[in-house]
Amino acid sequence: MRDEVIFEITKDQLETGMRGIPVGYCVTSQVDPEKGLYYKGVPISELSSCDPVEVIYLLYHGQRGNDRELNEFRKDLQRRSEIDQSVIYHVQALPKQGRPMEMFAAALLILGMHEKTEDYREDCLNLIAKLPSLAATLINYHAGWGETPKSRPELGYMQNFVHMLNVPGSNKEMLSDVLRMFNILHFDHGGGNLSAFTSKAIASGLQNLYASIAGGMAALGGPLHGRANQDCLNFVKKIHDELGDDASADDIEHKVRELLEQHKKVFGFGHAVLRVEDPRASLFYEYGKQHFEGDSLFKLALQLRERGSKVLGEDGKVSDPHPNVDAISGTILSAAGFPYPEYFTVLFGLSRSVGIAIQIVYERCIAREGKGLPIIRPKYLYKNLSSNS
Ligand code: MLT
Repeated sequence: MRDEVIFEITKDQLETGMRGIPVGYCVTSQVDPEKGLYYKGVPISELSSCDPVEVIYLLYHGQRGNDRELNEFRKDLQRRSEIDQSVIYHVQALPKQGRPMEMFAAALLILGMHEKTEDYREDCLNLIAKLPSLAATLINYHAGWGETPKSRPELGYMQNFVHMLNVPGSNKEMLSDVLRMFNILHFDHGGGNLSAFTSKAIASGLQNLYASIAGGMAALGGPLHGRANQDCLNFVKKIHDELGDDASADDIEHKVRELLEQHKKVFGFGHAVLRVEDPRASLFYEYGKQHFEGDSLFKLALQLRERGSKVLGEDGKVSDPHPNVDAISGTILSAAGFPYPEYFTVLFGLSRSVGIAIQIVYERCIAREGKGLPIIRPKYLYKNLSSNS
């Protein structure tokens, strides 16, 4: 029933970040408060060991591809993957004092200036194909890791990214596998997360896909959104520096209590939608147990998982005392040979741009029988700050 009442809003809900207020449909993914993330109805736990291109196919086409379809899709992305020399030239001229996420947003604008076709479907596939080269070029340039090697898309989507990334002294095979999983887990998280919502709002004014996603990446760079993953690793490291390798679970619990008493933040816990441990975090914890059991930061992150939730859950005031994906993703990246938190959000953005681009294709080309959604224009009530009402 199209006129069914699905939500009633009270004045208390104004100025609460539109938390929980439905505004539309998301056709790529869903975040269930108790069960977590689903892509096209498939739980994330069933997809985390796939090849990223299989999952991109699922998000883009709405169903799992067979071998022939996946092969064609893979080849299509490979054909689209090269970025123009002039894009590289301009990315490498960006001011290095900028934050990597500011540079990533700028790099997307530059890419769009050179490559946009103004056809959302074409731009979506082109962008997805070119993201690994763009992100590798930017990180190598900012980190001073030298010229980016020539792209070899036939290696695989994330394998090629790791091949192009000149990370000093890493085990490329291990890092490729961790980034494969990281990429899949971060593709999409419903329609209302800040970066997706921002990008779709920009695209609703018929701005092109590259500029729309650049706006979303500026949003992702904020500490309450994507930058949380780097802040979390720094938090785990700081506790490790203070308590050392032999900290017991009780020491960690004591530390968490101390931080709360001092009104300081315990990073990596809670989520706007979830009311259980973020399944993306659970998958990383399991991966870490298989591959990084001896890593001291991983051990500490495991203890924090248990004791942090215990302490935060004690007084019943915290609506979600469980770890979110950021609590552990950075520790896993670090253990896999990428201990560079300032680039973690770029890795998040490299992945999240995929889901957002596909959401934009739906909103611009498919929704409302292909007419697309109207420009976003919510209502703000006037408030007179000098009156008492
Ligand atoms: C995300 O993956 O975007 C974050 O968990 C934030 C959110 O869903 O609001």
